[in-house]
Amino acid sequence: MKIAVLGYGTVGRGVVTIVEGRARGVEVEKILDLPKNCTQPRMTPNYDEIVDDPSIEVVVECMGGLEPAHTFICRALRAHKSVVTSNKAVVAEFFDEFAALALENGVGLFIEASVGGGIPWIASIEKARRIDEISSFSGIMNGTTNYIIDSMAKEGLDFDIALGKAQELGYAERDPSADIDGVDVRNKTIISASVAFDVACTKDLPVTGIRTLTKRDMLMFENKGLQVKLFGRGVQRDGSYAVAVEPVAVPRESMEAAVPSNFNLVSLEGATVGPLKFYGQGAGSLPTGNAMVQDVLDAAAGRVPCYDFTRGLAYDPSLLTSN
Ligand code: HSE
Repeated sequence: MKIAVLGYGTVGRGVVTIVEGRARGVEVEKILDLPKNCTQPRMTPNYDEIVDDPSIEVVVECMGGLEPAHTFICRALRAHKSVVTSNKAVVAEFFDEFAALALENGVGLFIEASVGGGIPWIASIEKARRIDEISSFSGIMNGTTNYIIDSMAKEGLDFDIALGKAQELGYAERDPSADIDGVDVRNKTIISASVAFDVACTKDLPVTGIRTLTKRDMLMFENKGLQVKLFGRGVQRDGSYAVAVEPVAVPRESMEAAVPSNFNLVSLEGATVGPLKFYGQGAGSLPTGNAMVQDVLDAAAGRVPCYDFTRGLAYDPSLLTSN
């Protein structure tokens, strides 16, 4: 099966490396990148060459950002190509549009890599919800904030210094607001809730990041045997659901407190399966590339994920505040 990879940065390179070393039967036919980066014959800056090529069955989008990713994904689905994406911003914003287009055109929309890097989180939610109504999920889904909070708590650093170190080490983006203001976790929470609760999740959820945490706060939590982590959470009960992103203080000896930078811990609970936890690398070239190639292999095997957002759950933020 021939695929095209859109974007040849950290994740795109991971996808190509894994396909070429370990995914028999899959071939990278084209790679989309900026003209100055097109150093191999299969690289092109022109998306028409990909979307108009009938031999390409799957488009693997790892560009990030809303545009042109949104347009490219819609065009691929309309051209009857399955789409695999790691782009949480575009999925959180346009999930219902993409799902409807995929259904209309008889192809698959695969989003495993958009949340939790290499952790098979979306697949696990999908599997759990075949039997159980998922009553809640929560997750430490951002490695950059793990790093910053740990540096503040363990090394006594001020927020700005810890952020600077995270940027130097390449964890945080140059504009770190997506990480520290909770936007990245917001997007991952919207996607998780959409899949877990079968709902076109609200985009207007309460989001609190870690920007205002101080060294003094950390000391206070430390003295109480607590450790702060940034969580995305969702609950559903009696036909309603709620979602939120906020820092939470957890006991120092808990599994959650021990999650280091670059790792994620995501959990869900269902009536018969009980509580489940998943732990692994939440970012990086090969873990995220692995999740995308798993999706490619599923597409090759003819699996078509089914997302139905017509259930009409009511959004009731008090479900979380009254918890
Ligand atoms: N900025 C994200 C993080 C990258 O720090 O976890 C993975 O989505």
